[in-house]
Amino acid sequence: MLKSSIALLLSLASLISAYQVEIHPEYQQGLSINDVPQERRLHWMRVANEAVYADGHPCPQAPFGSAIVNTTSDELICVTSNKVGVTGNPAMHGEISAITHCTEVLTKKGLSPQEILASWKDFSLYTNGEPCPMCASAIRWAGFKEVIYGTSIRTIAENGRNQIYIPSSHVWEKSYSLGHATLMLGNILTNETDVFFAHQFNESAPCPTGCQRQSAPGKRVQACAPVDNWQETVRKAGKGLAVTEGRGHDEL
Ligand SMILES: *[C@@H]1O[C@H](CO)[C@@H](O)[C@H](O)[C@H]1NC(C)=O
Ligand SMILES: *[C@@H]1O[C@H](CO)[C@@H](O)[C@H](O)[C@H]1NC(C)=O
Ligand SMILES: *[C@@H]1O[C@H](CO)[C@@H](O)[C@H](O)[C@H]1NC(C)=O
Repeated sequence: MLKSSIALLLSLASLISAYQVEIHPEYQQGLSINDVPQERRLHWMRVANEAVYADGHPCPQAPFGSAIVNTTSDELICVTSNKVGVTGNPAMHGEISAITHCTEVLTKKGLSPQEILASWKDFSLYTNGEPCPMCASAIRWAGFKEVIYGTSIRTIAENGRNQIYIPSSHVWEKSYSLGHATLMLGNILTNETDVFFAHQFNESAPCPTGCQRQSAPGKRVQACAPVDNWQETVRKAGKGLAVTEGRGHDEL
């Protein structure tokens, strides 16, 4: 009797978890949610994605870019990319860098710490890769109105990059005690974000526009590296929101 009750409970639990997995939408491109026209989602995802260009070229090892936008006014607050390699701070993933940088931007605009804390709930965070558990937690602590990601953790991991194997939806699921809800939209503009994550560990994968596979001394694997004058190649392809000369990240 006890055994069969436990078996029944276990099968019910697996049914419930299968149900939850099944209804989590994997693809919401083309929808205008929260009064944001769908083409603005594509625009801001492109800004986040192409933020990696401003750091030197279109095929970095860690091509993570994030943009924070006021959801209702459609204004960019700040945009930046992964800063682990340039600072030595291992927590400076794209999203943490964006939260840090936007805090500075808002401080310079004259907002007090309390005003800054209150402002995140007006903002959308666009990120070209699904937030890792650290970044997902920071996003939930901030209380963003929305987070929108391109390439999923699953795709990033399948492409060979090491990851903590926890989907951001699990952090959402466990953060219900926090005051503010955050809408999550996944897999937006993956036709443009995936290519940035596909080439690092797969010699057959195409390089992003502006890069080509090249041999390097002492390396047994050909890696994507920028072509000469990659900025021109990228511009001709209609990309490169972030490479306009003399412009920093925030004036895209
Ligand atoms: C976001 O934009 C709305 C609409 O323009 C404005 O009322 C609000 O103050 C803005 N929020 C922040 C934190 O800038
Ligand atoms: C990717 O898809 C979007 C939305 O369907 C489209 O607007 C865009 O042109 C596509 N990008 C490329 C490089 O094909
Ligand atoms: C490597 O890239 C090629 C070309 O995009 C793709 O067909 C193949 O599935 C990839 N291999 C793996 C193991 O992901």
